[in-house]
Amino acid sequence: MKFTTMTFDKIYQYNFPTTILFGAGSSKNLGDYLVQNKLSKPLIVTDANVAQLAFFKSILHDLRKKNISLEVFYDIHKNPVKSDVYKGTDVYDQTNRDSIIGIGGGAALDVARSIVLRVNHREDLFKYDDLIGGDIYVTNDVPHFITIPTTAGTGSEVGRSAIIADDDTHQKKILFSPKLLAKIVFADPLLTMDLPPSITAATGMDALTHNMEAFLAKMPHPMCEGIALEGMALINESIVEAVNNPGIESRSKMLIASLMGAVAFQKGLGVVHSLAHPLSTLLDTHHGLANAVNLPYGMGFNIEGQEQKFKKIARTLGLKEESGNAVVQYLFELNAEINIPHRLRDIGVKEEHINPLADLAIADFAHPNNPKPVSRENFKDLYSKAL
Ligand SMILES: NC(=O)c1ccc[n+]([C@@H]2O[C@H](COP(=O)([O-])OP(=O)(O)OC[C@H]3O[C@@H](n4cnc5c(N)ncnc54)[C@H](O)[C@@H]3O)[C@@H](O)[C@H]2O)c1
Ligand SMILES: [Fe+2]
Repeated sequence: MKFTTMTFDKIYQYNFPTTILFGAGSSKNLGDYLVQNKLSKPLIVTDANVAQLAFFKSILHDLRKKNISLEVFYDIHKNPVKSDVYKGTDVYDQTNRDSIIGIGGGAALDVARSIVLRVNHREDLFKYDDLIGGDIYVTNDVPHFITIPTTAGTGSEVGRSAIIADDDTHQKKILFSPKLLAKIVFADPLLTMDLPPSITAATGMDALTHNMEAFLAKMPHPMCEGIALEGMALINESIVEAVNNPGIESRSKMLIASLMGAVAFQKGLGVVHSLAHPLSTLLDTHHGLANAVNLPYGMGFNIEGQEQKFKKIARTLGLKEESGNAVVQYLFELNAEINIPHRLRDIGVKEEHINPLADLAIADFAHPNNPKPVSRENFKDLYSKAL
Protein backbone atom coordinates (compact mmCIF):
# COMPACT_ATOMS: atom_id res chain seq x y z
CA MET A 1 0.00 0.00 0.00
CA LYS A 2 1.32 3.47 -0.88
CA PHE A 3 1.13 6.10 1.86
CA THR A 4 3.52 8.75 0.61
CA THR A 5 2.04 11.71 -1.18
CA MET A 6 5.45 13.24 -1.81
CA THR A 7 6.55 14.41 -5.22
CA PHE A 8 10.25 13.93 -5.90
CA ASP A 9 10.73 16.73 -8.41
CA LYS A 10 11.21 19.57 -5.93
CA ILE A 11 13.76 20.70 -3.35
CA TYR A 12 12.70 20.81 0.30
CA GLN A 13 14.46 22.20 3.37
CA TYR A 14 14.45 20.07 6.54
CA ASN A 15 16.01 21.09 9.90
CA PHE A 16 16.81 18.98 12.97
CA PRO A 17 19.46 21.10 14.65
CA THR A 18 18.93 21.35 18.41
CA THR A 19 21.16 19.65 20.98
CA ILE A 20 18.91 17.93 23.52
CA LEU A 21 20.12 16.51 26.81
CA PHE A 22 17.24 14.20 27.65
CA GLY A 23 16.68 12.09 30.77
CA ALA A 24 16.02 12.08 34.51
CA GLY A 25 18.43 14.50 36.18
CA SER A 26 19.66 16.11 32.93
CA SER A 27 18.91 19.60 34.31
CA LYS A 28 21.66 19.05 36.90
CA ASN A 29 24.14 19.69 34.06
CA LEU A 30 23.02 23.29 33.57
CA GLY A 31 25.65 24.81 35.88
CA ASP A 32 28.56 23.01 34.22
CA TYR A 33 27.23 23.97 30.82
CA LEU A 34 27.12 27.66 31.79
CA VAL A 35 30.65 27.53 33.18
CA GLN A 36 31.98 25.74 30.08
CA ASN A 37 30.39 28.38 27.89
CA LYS A 38 31.66 31.26 30.07
CA LEU A 39 28.15 32.42 30.88
CA SER A 40 27.90 33.84 34.38
CA LYS A 41 24.94 36.26 34.30
CA PRO A 42 21.83 34.55 32.92
CA LEU A 43 18.34 35.99 33.02
CA ILE A 44 16.03 33.17 34.06
CA VAL A 45 12.53 33.51 32.63
CA THR A 46 9.69 31.52 34.19
CA ASP A 47 6.16 32.08 35.52
CA ALA A 48 5.08 33.02 39.04
CA ASN A 49 3.83 29.53 39.79
CA VAL A 50 6.95 27.63 38.64
CA ALA A 51 9.11 30.18 40.50
CA GLN A 52 7.65 28.80 43.76
CA LEU A 53 8.26 25.11 43.03
CA ALA A 54 10.93 23.10 44.84
CA PHE A 55 12.78 21.98 41.71
CA PHE A 56 13.08 25.59 40.54
CA LYS A 57 14.57 26.71 43.84
CA SER A 58 16.94 23.75 43.71
CA ILE A 59 18.14 24.78 40.21
CA LEU A 60 18.84 28.31 41.52
CA HIS A 61 20.64 26.87 44.55
CA ASP A 62 22.91 24.71 42.34
CA LEU A 63 23.76 27.68 40.12
CA ARG A 64 24.56 29.96 43.07
CA LYS A 65 27.00 27.32 44.33
CA LYS A 66 28.86 27.80 41.03
CA ASN A 67 29.03 31.58 41.60
CA ILE A 68 26.60 32.32 38.83
CA SER A 69 24.82 35.66 39.20
CA LEU A 70 21.07 35.13 38.86
CA GLU A 71 18.16 37.34 37.94
CA VAL A 72 14.70 35.82 37.70
CA PHE A 73 11.83 37.31 35.68
CA TYR A 74 8.40 35.75 36.21
CA ASP A 75 5.87 38.58 35.70
CA ILE A 76 4.05 37.01 32.72
CA HIS A 77 0.46 36.29 31.65
CA LYS A 78 -1.06 32.83 31.17
CA ASN A 79 -1.37 33.67 27.47
CA PRO A 80 1.69 35.98 27.25
CA VAL A 81 1.40 39.53 25.91
CA LYS A 82 3.80 42.04 24.39
CA SER A 83 4.26 44.06 27.59
CA ASP A 84 5.53 40.90 29.36
CA VAL A 85 8.33 40.75 26.80
CA TYR A 86 9.16 44.47 27.17
CA LYS A 87 9.29 44.19 30.98
CA GLY A 88 11.56 41.15 30.81
CA THR A 89 13.87 42.89 28.35
CA ASP A 90 14.11 45.87 30.73
CA VAL A 91 15.26 43.49 33.47
CA TYR A 92 17.83 41.98 31.07
CA ASP A 93 19.20 45.45 30.26
CA GLN A 94 19.14 46.89 33.77
CA THR A 95 20.90 43.90 35.32
CA ASN A 96 23.50 43.51 32.59
CA ARG A 97 22.81 39.87 31.62
CA ASP A 98 24.79 37.68 29.21
CA SER A 99 22.31 34.89 28.38
CA ILE A 100 18.70 33.75 28.77
CA ILE A 101 17.38 30.53 30.31
CA GLY A 102 13.69 29.74 29.87
CA ILE A 103 12.39 27.35 32.53
CA GLY A 104 8.70 26.44 32.43
CA GLY A 105 5.76 25.58 30.24
CA GLY A 106 5.09 26.97 26.79
CA ALA A 107 4.07 30.37 28.15
CA ALA A 108 7.37 31.02 29.98
CA LEU A 109 9.44 29.61 27.09
CA ASP A 110 7.62 31.84 24.59
CA VAL A 111 8.35 34.93 26.69
CA ALA A 112 11.99 33.85 27.13
CA ARG A 113 12.39 33.37 23.37
CA SER A 114 10.78 36.74 22.66
CA ILE A 115 13.17 38.49 25.06
CA VAL A 116 16.02 36.73 23.20
CA LEU A 117 14.72 38.43 20.06
CA ARG A 118 14.06 41.83 21.62
CA VAL A 119 17.50 42.28 23.25
CA ASN A 120 19.08 43.32 19.93
CA HIS A 121 15.95 44.05 17.86
CA ARG A 122 14.23 47.18 19.22
CA GLU A 123 11.57 47.96 16.65
CA ASP A 124 8.00 47.33 17.76
CA LEU A 125 7.89 43.61 18.66
CA PHE A 126 5.14 42.88 16.14
CA LYS A 127 7.22 44.26 13.27
CA TYR A 128 8.88 40.82 13.50
CA ASP A 129 5.51 39.03 13.08
CA ASP A 130 6.19 36.10 10.78
CA LEU A 131 2.80 36.38 9.08
CA ILE A 132 3.75 39.76 7.61
CA GLY A 133 7.23 38.54 6.67
CA GLY A 134 8.80 40.10 9.79
CA ASP A 135 11.42 37.36 10.09
CA ILE A 136 13.55 39.19 7.49
CA TYR A 137 14.21 41.91 10.09
CA VAL A 138 15.75 39.41 12.53
CA THR A 139 19.29 40.15 11.39
CA ASN A 140 21.30 40.94 14.53
CA ASP A 141 22.94 38.55 16.97
CA VAL A 142 20.85 37.17 19.81
CA PRO A 143 21.90 36.19 23.37
CA HIS A 144 22.86 32.58 24.19
CA PHE A 145 19.51 30.82 24.78
CA ILE A 146 18.85 27.71 26.86
CA THR A 147 15.48 26.01 27.44
CA ILE A 148 14.28 23.71 30.22
CA PRO A 149 10.68 22.48 29.72
CA THR A 150 8.59 21.74 32.80
CA THR A 151 5.41 20.65 31.00
CA ALA A 152 5.14 17.96 28.32
CA GLY A 153 3.01 19.68 25.74
CA THR A 154 3.96 22.57 23.53
CA GLY A 155 7.49 21.41 22.72
CA SER A 156 8.32 25.12 22.59
CA GLU A 157 11.78 24.21 23.95
CA VAL A 158 12.84 22.98 20.50
CA GLY A 159 10.90 25.59 18.56
CA ARG A 160 11.95 28.61 16.55
CA SER A 161 8.82 30.60 17.20
CA ALA A 162 7.04 32.32 20.03
CA ILE A 163 3.36 33.09 20.30
CA ILE A 164 2.72 36.49 21.90
CA ALA A 165 -0.61 38.33 22.05
CA ASP A 166 -1.38 42.02 21.69
CA ASP A 167 -2.16 43.48 25.14
CA ASP A 168 -5.38 45.13 23.97
CA THR A 169 -6.80 43.03 21.12
CA HIS A 170 -5.45 39.69 22.50
CA GLN A 171 -4.68 38.75 18.91
CA LYS A 172 -1.84 36.22 18.84
CA LYS A 173 1.22 36.94 16.71
CA ILE A 174 4.03 34.57 15.80
CA LEU A 175 7.62 35.69 16.12
CA PHE A 176 9.84 33.40 14.11
CA SER A 177 13.47 33.04 13.19
CA PRO A 178 15.96 30.14 13.09
CA LYS A 179 18.06 32.42 15.33
CA LEU A 180 15.54 31.86 18.10
CA LEU A 181 16.39 28.18 18.50
CA ALA A 182 17.80 27.21 21.87
CA LYS A 183 21.51 26.31 21.81
CA ILE A 184 20.70 23.42 24.14
CA VAL A 185 17.59 21.91 25.74
CA PHE A 186 17.79 20.24 29.14
CA ALA A 187 14.77 17.92 28.98
CA ASP A 188 14.44 16.46 32.46
CA PRO A 189 11.30 14.40 33.13
CA LEU A 190 11.90 14.72 36.89
CA LEU A 191 10.80 18.36 36.62
CA THR A 192 7.40 17.25 35.33
CA MET A 193 6.74 14.66 38.08
CA ASP A 194 4.42 16.87 40.14
CA LEU A 195 2.41 18.41 37.30
CA PRO A 196 -1.25 18.31 38.40
CA PRO A 197 -3.48 15.82 36.49
CA SER A 198 -5.50 18.51 34.70
CA ILE A 199 -2.35 20.19 33.32
CA THR A 200 -0.79 16.83 32.41
CA ALA A 201 -3.95 15.96 30.49
CA ALA A 202 -4.32 19.28 28.66
CA THR A 203 -0.64 19.68 27.78
CA GLY A 204 -0.39 16.00 26.80
CA MET A 205 -3.31 16.38 24.39
CA ASP A 206 -1.58 19.45 22.90
CA ALA A 207 1.41 17.18 22.19
CA LEU A 208 -0.87 14.55 20.65
CA THR A 209 -2.51 17.23 18.52
CA HIS A 210 0.93 18.38 17.28
CA ASN A 211 1.90 14.85 16.27
CA MET A 212 -1.44 14.16 14.55
CA GLU A 213 -1.69 17.49 12.75
CA ALA A 214 1.96 17.38 11.70
CA PHE A 215 1.53 13.86 10.33
CA LEU A 216 -1.43 14.99 8.23
CA ALA A 217 -0.14 18.46 7.25
CA LYS A 218 0.27 19.17 3.54
CA MET A 219 4.03 19.72 3.32
CA PRO A 220 5.85 16.63 2.03
CA HIS A 221 8.20 15.58 4.86
CA PRO A 222 8.58 11.82 5.44
CA MET A 223 11.16 12.40 8.23
CA CYS A 224 8.68 14.40 10.29
CA GLU A 225 5.92 11.91 9.53
CA GLY A 226 8.02 9.12 11.05
CA ILE A 227 8.71 11.21 14.13
CA ALA A 228 5.02 12.14 14.45
CA LEU A 229 3.88 8.52 14.32
CA GLU A 230 6.35 7.48 17.03
CA GLY A 231 5.26 10.52 19.06
CA MET A 232 1.63 9.35 18.86
CA ALA A 233 2.66 5.81 19.89
CA LEU A 234 4.53 7.10 22.95
CA ILE A 235 1.61 9.28 24.06
CA ASN A 236 -0.83 6.43 23.52
CA GLU A 237 1.32 4.25 25.82
CA SER A 238 1.74 6.80 28.57
CA ILE A 239 -0.78 9.63 28.80
CA VAL A 240 -3.40 7.89 30.96
CA GLU A 241 -0.74 6.70 33.40
CA ALA A 242 0.95 10.12 33.44
CA VAL A 243 -2.38 11.71 34.39
CA ASN A 244 -3.62 9.15 36.92
CA ASN A 245 -0.56 7.48 38.35
CA PRO A 246 2.61 9.14 37.09
CA GLY A 247 5.98 7.44 37.26
CA ILE A 248 9.30 8.24 35.67
CA GLU A 249 8.58 6.05 32.63
CA SER A 250 5.27 7.68 31.70
CA ARG A 251 6.67 11.17 32.40
CA SER A 252 9.72 10.44 30.23
CA LYS A 253 7.63 9.13 27.35
CA MET A 254 5.35 12.17 27.50
CA LEU A 255 8.27 14.60 27.57
CA ILE A 256 10.09 13.09 24.60
CA ALA A 257 6.80 12.76 22.68
CA SER A 258 6.04 16.45 23.22
CA LEU A 259 9.50 17.35 21.91
CA MET A 260 8.89 15.10 18.91
CA GLY A 261 5.55 16.77 18.22
CA ALA A 262 7.23 20.16 18.03
CA VAL A 263 10.04 18.84 15.81
CA ALA A 264 7.39 17.27 13.57
CA PHE A 265 5.30 20.40 13.24
CA GLN A 266 7.95 22.20 11.22
CA LYS A 267 5.86 20.32 8.60
CA GLY A 268 2.83 22.40 9.60
CA LEU A 269 -0.24 22.17 11.84
CA GLY A 270 -3.88 22.31 10.81
CA VAL A 271 -7.56 22.83 11.49
CA VAL A 272 -7.46 21.86 15.19
CA HIS A 273 -4.94 24.55 16.15
CA SER A 274 -6.95 27.10 14.17
CA LEU A 275 -10.06 26.07 16.14
CA ALA A 276 -8.11 26.29 19.41
CA HIS A 277 -6.23 29.60 19.06
CA PRO A 278 -9.41 31.77 19.01
CA LEU A 279 -10.56 30.20 22.29
CA SER A 280 -7.40 31.47 23.98
CA THR A 281 -7.76 34.85 22.29
CA LEU A 282 -11.42 35.36 23.14
CA LEU A 283 -11.89 33.39 26.37
CA ASP A 284 -8.33 32.95 27.70
CA THR A 285 -8.72 29.16 27.47
CA HIS A 286 -5.53 27.15 28.12
CA HIS A 287 -3.96 26.23 24.76
CA GLY A 288 -3.78 22.49 25.43
CA LEU A 289 -7.34 22.25 26.73
CA ALA A 290 -8.64 24.13 23.68
CA ASN A 291 -6.87 21.66 21.38
CA ALA A 292 -7.96 18.63 23.39
CA VAL A 293 -11.68 19.40 23.16
CA ASN A 294 -11.50 20.25 19.45
CA LEU A 295 -9.21 17.38 18.42
CA PRO A 296 -11.83 14.63 17.79
CA TYR A 297 -14.03 17.04 15.81
CA GLY A 298 -11.11 18.38 13.74
CA MET A 299 -9.85 14.88 12.99
CA GLY A 300 -13.35 13.84 11.93
CA PHE A 301 -13.34 16.72 9.46
CA ASN A 302 -9.97 15.61 8.07
CA ILE A 303 -10.77 11.97 7.31
CA GLU A 304 -12.13 12.56 3.80
CA GLY A 305 -9.21 12.31 1.36
CA GLN A 306 -6.78 11.12 4.05
CA GLU A 307 -8.16 7.62 4.56
CA GLN A 308 -4.79 5.92 4.06
CA LYS A 309 -3.03 8.14 6.55
CA PHE A 310 -5.77 7.58 9.11
CA LYS A 311 -5.29 3.83 8.66
CA LYS A 312 -1.66 4.33 9.56
CA ILE A 313 -2.58 6.40 12.63
CA ALA A 314 -5.09 3.72 13.71
CA ARG A 315 -2.42 1.03 13.28
CA THR A 316 0.08 3.07 15.29
CA LEU A 317 -2.45 3.44 18.09
CA GLY A 318 -3.17 -0.30 18.02
CA LEU A 319 -6.86 0.17 17.22
CA LYS A 320 -8.87 -2.91 16.23
CA GLU A 321 -10.48 -1.16 13.28
CA GLU A 322 -8.04 0.68 11.02
CA SER A 323 -10.14 3.66 10.00
CA GLY A 324 -10.56 7.39 10.54
CA ASN A 325 -13.80 6.85 12.46
CA ALA A 326 -12.01 4.52 14.85
CA VAL A 327 -9.37 7.22 15.45
CA VAL A 328 -12.09 9.79 16.23
CA GLN A 329 -13.80 7.35 18.60
CA TYR A 330 -10.44 6.67 20.29
CA LEU A 331 -9.92 10.42 20.84
CA PHE A 332 -13.35 10.86 22.47
CA GLU A 333 -12.67 7.89 24.75
CA LEU A 334 -9.16 9.09 25.61
CA ASN A 335 -10.48 12.56 26.52
CA ALA A 336 -13.11 10.97 28.77
CA GLU A 337 -10.47 8.85 30.49
CA ILE A 338 -8.34 11.88 31.38
CA ASN A 339 -11.28 14.13 32.33
CA ILE A 340 -11.23 16.42 29.32
CA PRO A 341 -14.76 17.65 28.54
CA HIS A 342 -16.55 16.37 25.47
CA ARG A 343 -18.08 19.72 24.56
CA LEU A 344 -17.06 23.35 24.19
CA ARG A 345 -19.97 24.49 26.39
CA ASP A 346 -18.21 22.74 29.28
CA ILE A 347 -15.25 25.10 28.90
CA GLY A 348 -17.30 28.29 28.75
CA VAL A 349 -18.16 28.63 25.05
CA LYS A 350 -21.64 29.94 24.23
CA GLU A 351 -23.70 30.06 21.06
CA GLU A 352 -22.99 33.80 20.64
CA HIS A 353 -19.24 33.11 20.57
CA ILE A 354 -19.40 31.02 17.39
CA ASN A 355 -19.35 33.88 14.86
CA PRO A 356 -16.45 35.79 16.46
CA LEU A 357 -14.58 32.50 16.95
CA ALA A 358 -15.05 31.62 13.28
CA ASP A 359 -13.77 35.08 12.24
CA LEU A 360 -10.59 34.53 14.24
CA ALA A 361 -10.18 30.92 13.10
CA ILE A 362 -10.30 31.73 9.39
CA ALA A 363 -7.59 34.39 9.92
CA ASP A 364 -5.39 31.94 11.88
CA PHE A 365 -1.98 30.84 10.59
CA ALA A 366 -2.31 27.08 11.19
CA HIS A 367 -5.04 25.85 8.83
CA PRO A 368 -3.42 26.72 5.47
CA ASN A 369 -1.31 23.59 6.08
CA ASN A 370 -4.31 21.40 6.80
CA PRO A 371 -4.58 18.56 4.25
CA LYS A 372 -8.11 19.70 3.36
CA PRO A 373 -9.03 23.39 2.81
CA VAL A 374 -11.07 24.91 5.65
CA SER A 375 -13.65 27.67 5.04
CA ARG A 376 -15.24 30.05 7.56
CA GLU A 377 -18.43 28.00 7.16
CA ASN A 378 -16.49 24.83 8.05
CA PHE A 379 -15.19 26.52 11.21
CA LYS A 380 -18.73 27.54 12.17
CA ASP A 381 -19.96 23.98 11.59
CA LEU A 382 -17.12 22.50 13.62
CA TYR A 383 -17.67 24.89 16.56
CA SER A 384 -21.42 24.21 16.43
CA LYS A 385 -20.86 20.45 16.38
CA ALA A 386 -18.48 20.67 19.33
CA LEU A 387 -20.67 23.09 21.32
N1 LIG B 1 6.05 28.34 20.67
C1 LIG B 1 5.32 27.35 20.30
O1 LIG B 1 5.67 26.63 19.39
C2 LIG B 1 4.05 27.05 21.00
C3 LIG B 1 3.28 25.97 20.60
C4 LIG B 1 2.11 25.73 21.28
C5 LIG B 1 1.72 26.56 22.33
N2 LIG B 1 2.48 27.63 22.69
C6 LIG B 1 2.11 28.50 23.81
O2 LIG B 1 2.41 27.82 25.02
C7 LIG B 1 1.51 28.23 26.04
C8 LIG B 1 0.95 27.03 26.76
O3 LIG B 1 2.01 26.29 27.34
P1 LIG B 1 1.76 25.07 28.34
O4 LIG B 1 0.67 24.24 27.81
O5 LIG B 1 3.05 24.44 28.64
O6 LIG B 1 1.14 25.78 29.60
P2 LIG B 1 1.69 26.90 30.59
O7 LIG B 1 3.06 27.31 30.28
O8 LIG B 1 0.63 27.94 30.63
O9 LIG B 1 1.68 26.09 31.97
C9 LIG B 1 0.45 25.60 32.49
C10 LIG B 1 0.46 25.70 34.00
O10 LIG B 1 1.32 24.70 34.52
C11 LIG B 1 2.18 25.26 35.51
N3 LIG B 1 3.40 24.44 35.53
C12 LIG B 1 4.38 24.42 34.60
N4 LIG B 1 5.30 23.49 34.92
C13 LIG B 1 4.89 22.90 36.07
C14 LIG B 1 5.42 21.85 36.88
N5 LIG B 1 6.52 21.18 36.54
N6 LIG B 1 4.74 21.50 37.99
C15 LIG B 1 3.59 22.13 38.32
N7 LIG B 1 3.03 23.12 37.58
C16 LIG B 1 3.68 23.51 36.47
C17 LIG B 1 2.37 26.68 35.07
O11 LIG B 1 2.74 27.51 36.13
C18 LIG B 1 0.98 27.04 34.54
O12 LIG B 1 0.16 27.43 35.60
C19 LIG B 1 0.47 29.09 25.35
O13 LIG B 1 0.74 30.43 25.64
C20 LIG B 1 0.65 28.82 23.89
O14 LIG B 1 0.31 29.91 23.07
C21 LIG B 1 3.64 27.86 22.06
FE1 LIG C 1 -0.12 23.47 20.34
